[in-house]
Amino acid sequence: MKKHDIVEKNAGLLMVFIVIAISFGGLVELVPLFFQDETTKPVDGLKPYTALQLEGRDIYIREGCVGCHSQMIRPLRAEVERYGHYSVAGESVWEFPFLWGSKRTGPDLARVGQRYSDDWHRAHLYNPRDVVPESVMPSYPWLNTAKLDGKDTAAKMTAMQTLGVPYTDEQIAAGPDEVRGKTEMDAIVAYLQSLGTVIDKRR
Ligand code: HEC
Repeated sequence: MKKHDIVEKNAGLLMVFIVIAISFGGLVELVPLFFQDETTKPVDGLKPYTALQLEGRDIYIREGCVGCHSQMIRPLRAEVERYGHYSVAGESVWEFPFLWGSKRTGPDLARVGQRYSDDWHRAHLYNPRDVVPESVMPSYPWLNTAKLDGKDTAAKMTAMQTLGVPYTDEQIAAGPDEVRGKTEMDAIVAYLQSLGTVIDKRR
């Protein structure tokens, strides 16, 4: 009996070797990414979210926007022509948790920033059908009336700082005042307008 037959006829042993082979392949693909500047360093010009944008991001998470919208443009021609430059890792190094998503009931939002006016977003979020008659996106009218009190803003920014987002202590101290009295609509629009604006959209 050849040695190879022993492996092929013994399912347990075969599984062990398959696991070793796959983990080795996985390690070779994954481990270098932890050490490459391209994947671990912020892209030039990347800035942490302002306090208001950070609050907006939390509202985006609360409202489940990620369930219908991805924020990940794949390097495929159809995507790049529709949405702009494909997403690069250096844009997401300060995203905790990341909101790349995987479901696209609506369009990808990775580069929606500055594509529409603030007024367009306000009208759209209040009732999408007012600006896109065939839209199936839900309305979010309460964003207009719910006010931010800034109570947790500093704590949220401190948490981000702990995770490596370069907020200064002064920025954190100023955070609550920056958001207090603003509506949730102000915050989420500020967040949306910042998305994907660091990299040139047109390639
Ligand atoms: C049930 C799925 C669904 C949910 C949830 C949803 N959307 Fe949408 N969204 C859509 C669809 C479909 C469109 C395309 C039609 C339109 O523009 O309204 C869209 C379009 C958009 C656009 C315009 C994008 C473009 O490039 O034209 C923005 C911005 C947007 N949504 C933001 C949000 C935000 C912010 C939330 C959470 C508060 C949200 N969406 C929640 C389905 C959804």
